[in-house]
Amino acid sequence: MPGVLDFSNVTKDYGIPWSRRRIRALEGFTLSLERGEIFGFLGRNGAGKTTAIHLALGFMRPTSGAGHLLGKPFGDAASRARIGFLAENVALYHRPARKLLRYYGGLNGMRPQRLQLRSSEVLRQVELELEANRNVARFSRGMQQRIGLAQALINDPELLILDEPTSALDPLARVTMRELLLEANRAGKTVFLSSHLLSEIEMICHRVAILDKGRLVKLGRTEELLISRDRYEVVARGIPTNSFELSAYSLPQVRGLPLDANLAGDGRVQFTIPAAAQRDALQRIWSLGGEVLSVNPVRRTLEEVFVELTNKGSVL
Ligand SMILES: Nc1ncnc2c1ncn2[C@@H]1O[C@H](COP(=O)(O)OP(=O)(O)OP(=O)(O)O)[C@@H](O)[C@H]1O
Ligand SMILES: [Mg+2]
Repeated sequence: MPGVLDFSNVTKDYGIPWSRRRIRALEGFTLSLERGEIFGFLGRNGAGKTTAIHLALGFMRPTSGAGHLLGKPFGDAASRARIGFLAENVALYHRPARKLLRYYGGLNGMRPQRLQLRSSEVLRQVELELEANRNVARFSRGMQQRIGLAQALINDPELLILDEPTSALDPLARVTMRELLLEANRAGKTVFLSSHLLSEIEMICHRVAILDKGRLVKLGRTEELLISRDRYEVVARGIPTNSFELSAYSLPQVRGLPLDANLAGDGRVQFTIPAAAQRDALQRIWSLGGEVLSVNPVRRTLEEVFVELTNKGSVL
């Protein structure tokens, strides 16, 4: 049953002019978006993100495999009208901002009256209402990205596909963009966004996929990806500090335990341990007369997860 956006075993090769060699940009790529989610699409430069997005939009065809956009095979014009798309390199017609929005809305078959209302609404959303009559050719890069987003929102789409929507935005505009995406999502829109700004992805995406050299290397709920099963954080109190440090050095099975121990003023001690050393560490604390206050899996940043998965062989 095709959903909002599905890729099924998609491979895409690009030909190289004057050569028989081909570049494999995507390989056996399978992904299924859930309606109503914000999905983060990650990968290093050249990993294949834009390629996957262009295939979904029907700009080109897969070498093999297939996919569906809003229930229709890639390339279907009617489903294109129900989505909003912001390209990674925004290329806009050189027109005043408001006129440009009317032009794009018209392409989507929107009626003039509705279009007029909607143009004002989205211009306000992207904080460009004061620039409505200026030609976008003279907009700054960040302003162009914002009018690009307005263009993507004009038809009140069910699905927003955004290829690096915040790359040119200043910090405040990024916050606005984030709130806008959350608001669109609360209104029921599904959001598919590629980005290199991992802290932002971490903040707003329900699920993420990581591509590496055209292959999907990770897919999961953001929360779950960030929890490490290898290391635990222990908080304890009542351990005589000296004995703790000395004894830990003499105990090979809990080696490393005191090295990152963080002693708080109130007698609490906090440290991380490998999962395998958990039992020994807790017993050690108890035998020293201490009390274990909490044991939790260590939370990693998305950047740490990303580097771990994609740092094999540099592309530079
Ligand atoms: N039109 C094209 N012709 C030939 N090769 C291409 C074409 N478009 C992309 N490629 C190649 O396909 C691979 C994937 O590129 P793609 O643009 O999909 O990566 P990306 O993940 O979007 O990267 P970035 O983060 O830099 O935007 C790269 O090796 C790129 O050189
Ligand atoms: Mg790209």
